[in-house]
Amino acid sequence: MNHEKFHYQSIQDVQNKMQELGVSFPLSDNIGILGEKLEVAGHTIANRIAIQPMEGADSTPDGRPSEYTKKRYQRFAQSGAGLIWLEAVAIVEEGRATPGQLNITPDTMDDLKRMLEDIRETAQKTNGINPVIIMQATHSGRYSKPHGYPEPIIAYNNPLFEKDNPIAAERIITDDHLKELEELYGKVTQMAQEIGFDGIDVKCCHRYLNCELLSAYTRPGQYGGSFENRTRFFRNSFANAKAAAKDNFIVTSRMNLYDGFPYPYGWGVTEGNGIVPDMTEPKKLVGMLKDLGMEMLDITIGNPYVNPHVNRPYDNGGYVPPEHPFEGVARMYNCTKQIAEAYPDLKIISSGPTYLRQFAGNLAAGAVEQKYCSMVGFGRESFAYPQFVQDLLQKGEMDPKKVCITCGKCAELLRGCIPAGCVIRNPEYAAIYQKNILKK
Ligand SMILES: Cc1cc2nc3c(=O)[nH]c(=O)nc-3n(C[C@H](O)[C@H](O)[C@H](O)COP(=O)(O)O)c2cc1C
Repeated sequence: MNHEKFHYQSIQDVQNKMQELGVSFPLSDNIGILGEKLEVAGHTIANRIAIQPMEGADSTPDGRPSEYTKKRYQRFAQSGAGLIWLEAVAIVEEGRATPGQLNITPDTMDDLKRMLEDIRETAQKTNGINPVIIMQATHSGRYSKPHGYPEPIIAYNNPLFEKDNPIAAERIITDDHLKELEELYGKVTQMAQEIGFDGIDVKCCHRYLNCELLSAYTRPGQYGGSFENRTRFFRNSFANAKAAAKDNFIVTSRMNLYDGFPYPYGWGVTEGNGIVPDMTEPKKLVGMLKDLGMEMLDITIGNPYVNPHVNRPYDNGGYVPPEHPFEGVARMYNCTKQIAEAYPDLKIISSGPTYLRQFAGNLAAGAVEQKYCSMVGFGRESFAYPQFVQDLLQKGEMDPKKVCITCGKCAELLRGCIPAGCVIRNPEYAAIYQKNILKK
C-alpha cells in the first residue's frame, strides 16, 4: 500500500481528503476557544491546551530529574500550556521502562519537588500562569527495562506478541503482587501530594501493566476473565489513590479506550469483530471510575510498541501503516466523542493531534467547540515546537516551519533508552541522534 504523506496546504485540503477517505474529525477556525479557562475539581486551568506526558529516558540512574529532564520541563513551562501532564514516573524499580525513567521514591522526592517549583516559577514569569501539573504513575509491565534490556512482567502470555515463544511463567505477575501494587498507589499518591503535584494519574494505557490487565481474558484468578476481574487492579489502585488524596488533589487516569488487537487479546473490541472499536466496556469502566470520584480523564488509544500508527499517526515510523494517517486521527477522536457523549460533565482531554501539523490547532479548537473533549493534549508537538501554545493563543495559528513532521526519531531515541527530544527542531537532540543512532 502507498503511504500518502502530509502535504496539505489549507484546511480545505484537509477537508477534501477527509471526504475522499470517508472519515471525519472536528476542525474549527475558532482558535480563541482554546484560550478559555477550565474548572476541574477546584483547580482553574488557564487554557484548553495540555502538554501530554512525553517520556525522555533522561533521568539519573536512581530516577531523579537530570539536567536534560529539567531543561525539557523548562521548555514546557515556557510554552504557556494550562496543564502539564508529567511523563511516566515509575512507582517501583522493577517497572521502569528504561534505566532513565523517573522514579518516585522517598530519595527522589526533593529533586522532583525542586523541578516542580522551577516549572511553576518559569510559567509564572513567562506567561503569568500557574499550570496544573499531574504526575503519571506507572508500572511498565511487559515493557519494563530497568537495566536497559527487557525484563518483562506480564499480565498474561499473548500469542499475538509472543508468537511461539511464551514468556516464562515466573514473569507472569501474581495476584498477591498486584495487591501490593494496588496498596502502593495509595503511598505514591501521598508522596506526589507532598512533592507539590496537583494530581496523580493512575496510568492505564499503551499496554503497560494496568492496561494489559484490561484484556486479560485468558488469565485465571481474581484479575482475569470477567470484566469485573480484568478491571479490578485499575479500580482498586484508583480507589486507594483517591482514599489517600487530601483536599482538592486530583486523582485521574490516562486511559486506553482501545488498543487495536482482536478478542481475546484486545481491549475496546468485541468477540468476532476483529479490531473494530467497541466502546461498551470502556464506557462502563469510565462510569465506575466516575463513581469512585474521577472528574477528569485523559484519553488515548493503541500500543506504541506494536501498532504505533494507532497511537500516533505518522509520516515515518518503523513500518508502512496499513491505513491513511487521517483514519488514525479520526479513530482517536471518534472513540473520545463516545465517552464525552456518555459523560458530559466529565472533563476529558483528548490526544494525538500532532499529525495535523499547522492545522493541529484547528483540530483542537474543533474538538473543544464540538464537545469531543474539554481540552486537547499535544505529545510530539511539545518536543518539536513548545512555543506552539503561545502562537496559537496569541497569533491564532501555528508556524508550518516549526511543527513536528512526525518522523518518529524521538520515539526511536526513547526505545534505545537514549535521552529523547526533537531531532529535527532541536540541535541538541540532532547531535544525540547522530552520535547514538547514526554513528552506530
Ligand atoms: C518519545 C515519546 C514519549 C512518550 N512518552 C509518554 C509517556 O511517558 N506517557 C504516555 O502516556 N504517553 C507517552 N507518549 C505518547 C504521547 O503522550 C502521545 O499520546 C502520542 O505522541 C500521540 O500524540 P501526538 O500526536 O500529539 O504526538 C510518548 C510518545 C513519544 C513519541
